[in-house]
Amino acid sequence: MACVRAVRSFAWIVGLACVLNPFVAAQNSSYTTGVVVDGTSFALNGDNVSYRFHVDEDTGDLISDHFGGSVTESVPMLEPSVAGWVGLPGRVKREFPDLGRGDFRVPAVRIRQSQGYAVTDFRYKSHDVVRGKPALPGLPSTFGNDDDVTTLVVRMYDNYSSIAADLTYSIFPRLDAIVRSVNVTNQGQNNITVEKLASFSVDLPYDDYDMIELRGDWAREATKVRRRVEYGTQGFGSNTGYSSHLHNPFFSLLSPTTTESQGEAWGFSLVYTGSYAAEVERGSQGFTRAMIGFNPYDLSWNLGPGESLTSPECVAAYSEKGIGGVSRIFHRLYRNHLMKSKFAVETRPVLLNSWEGLGFDYNESRIYHLAQESAELGAKLFVLDDGWFGNEYPRVTDNAGLGDWQANKERFPNGISNLVNQVTALEAANSSSNLRFGLWFEPEMVNPNSTLYHEHPDWALHAGDYPRTLIRNQLVLNVALPEVQQFIIDALSNILSNASITYVKWDNNRGIQESPSPSIDHAYMLGLYHVFDVLTTRFPDVLWEGCASGGGRFDPGILQYFPQVWTSDDTDALMRISIQFGTSLVYPPSAMGAHVSDVPNQQTGRTIPLLFRAHVAMMGGSFGFELDPAKLAEDERALVPDIIALAERVNPIVVKGDQWRLNLPEDSNWPAALFLSENGSQGVLFYFQVRATVDQPTPYLRLQGLDPKARYTLDGNVTYSGATLMRTGVQYKFNGEYDSKVVFIEKA
Ligand code: GLA
Repeated sequence: MACVRAVRSFAWIVGLACVLNPFVAAQNSSYTTGVVVDGTSFALNGDNVSYRFHVDEDTGDLISDHFGGSVTESVPMLEPSVAGWVGLPGRVKREFPDLGRGDFRVPAVRIRQSQGYAVTDFRYKSHDVVRGKPALPGLPSTFGNDDDVTTLVVRMYDNYSSIAADLTYSIFPRLDAIVRSVNVTNQGQNNITVEKLASFSVDLPYDDYDMIELRGDWAREATKVRRRVEYGTQGFGSNTGYSSHLHNPFFSLLSPTTTESQGEAWGFSLVYTGSYAAEVERGSQGFTRAMIGFNPYDLSWNLGPGESLTSPECVAAYSEKGIGGVSRIFHRLYRNHLMKSKFAVETRPVLLNSWEGLGFDYNESRIYHLAQESAELGAKLFVLDDGWFGNEYPRVTDNAGLGDWQANKERFPNGISNLVNQVTALEAANSSSNLRFGLWFEPEMVNPNSTLYHEHPDWALHAGDYPRTLIRNQLVLNVALPEVQQFIIDALSNILSNASITYVKWDNNRGIQESPSPSIDHAYMLGLYHVFDVLTTRFPDVLWEGCASGGGRFDPGILQYFPQVWTSDDTDALMRISIQFGTSLVYPPSAMGAHVSDVPNQQTGRTIPLLFRAHVAMMGGSFGFELDPAKLAEDERALVPDIIALAERVNPIVVKGDQWRLNLPEDSNWPAALFLSENGSQGVLFYFQVRATVDQPTPYLRLQGLDPKARYTLDGNVTYSGATLMRTGVQYKFNGEYDSKVVFIEKA
């Protein structure tokens, strides 16, 4: 006879909810805390999500009950009969699958013990609920006050090995976001080695799912791929030492019928900048396991008695409003509860960056002239990119100078601070503010052609006598070493304290190859986060931008410290629509650096009109130019002041608003995105025609996210109800290929 396993109905409807911790207010129908505990059954409730699991009374295992739309009770699973090879642990939905006891699916944890075996048996021991969310030691993490977020810690323990595993779950109820990390502590007498640790792991019910991931490479980041989840494992990751362009540390599971705007979708986003692995497995019993965490290839972490390892955290989001709904959860969470920078929701200055315009080919007067032109056109920030440093080994090409962070005396005889003073004395046209100055660094790298390398060859990562392979003529510094961390902190502090530099572009242009040990990757990340923490705390008025050969550093770990990332070295506007839409699956548009470059485009050779290029770039939070204005045609140059004025007008809505991807570039000749301020009162629509059409009307474009009952004015002209705009839509006329519109929307 089928018996009911240990799932108890939650009884809050009749007021029986049992809250075990005095810090947690009693459950009520508004789910104020988001966490409800009934004995050893747990529920994390958001406005539109419930995440439920319980302790199996017999095995002490944590069993997943529900991750989906709001519910107030669990439906117990029938007792599985154990027949065939798969043991009981392999027949249930588990929260923290360990290894070696009959669950043959991918484990969330693998620990090698001193005796050699890697079997573990984690059982529930205790739990605690606290308001708010404690920070993770040494790692970036989402944050919020006691009203924003509540945290549940479930303590597991393996009696045979004396290893403890604390699973920390937090819920941001108003955002429908759940965050989890895991801490493993060796409470035994012998050394153990953590060889695998997933931050998040959940088993979804026996059903069909699709999976979306973002793959790519240099200059073609964030390509969206959707595929059916098949039986067996499917996954991806990065073992480059960094999150990388190859695959972003994010994936989504969806019902096969889910679209951009409708249907169930789950998103998983890892708050980490190092190598990682994402694994999805449909097992023989039909459940789908989803997990993401450290990459086991880059983890072999020794824990002596009393020592702990904390995993990065993973954010899991759920929406019934399609993948777009999941994106908006991530955007709001990351804007408001991940980015620590004071610029997170600030309007960003329109900039001009020297890289695509001048490359390495400049001297002080050429740079000053470029800054003058930037000011005349109305830019607010001038950024001097690569090439300004190195004396013994001048950085005049990419084969020398990295590591020698002193201004090149031949190019800048009076030093960087003199140039900064001159540039910041320039008044930006059409404004009362002066031009600001930004500078490029690549602090984690070293060229063998550098004074630093000659003085400290051992600071570069290397594996014994294996050749130190050069990529872009450079090696990676071992940022795990405290002396390297201090060197970077001192080098940047020295420059930032002596000149009025208010923007830093922090680049990183290669992956890690000959690694001295698999655990170096995480040690490096802990060191890097320490450096970021010290520098961003010391220089809070600097707008920090991350970059790794373009979007190779678009990960949530970076966003904790840097509120924006250079989205791609591919500045071709057509490709940029796809790259920016792909990136926006998880990252807020506010975090995207997007620039207007010269044509023919340096990467694709394509020529696209200036306005279209500018409108695409305005969909990124940090809008700018990356060209030599001297090369602009007269009529194009005349457009620039208006483009800047428009960019400044849309920027507050793009930076602080919600985004609705209305037409996708992979599906439509008319890609479109709508940005709406969080309170819905103001919006801006970006609408593009890619190819010319002949003798064919443009389809109506149906908006989303509006209040059906409210009335909205478009560009100060016509007024329609939200219902009309969403159900009938609007129609615009385009002229030929690469035409675009920007439409302002005002709630009446
Ligand atoms: C990388 C960056 C570019 C530019 C160059 C400079 O490729 O992505 O934006 O800064 O380095 O070398």
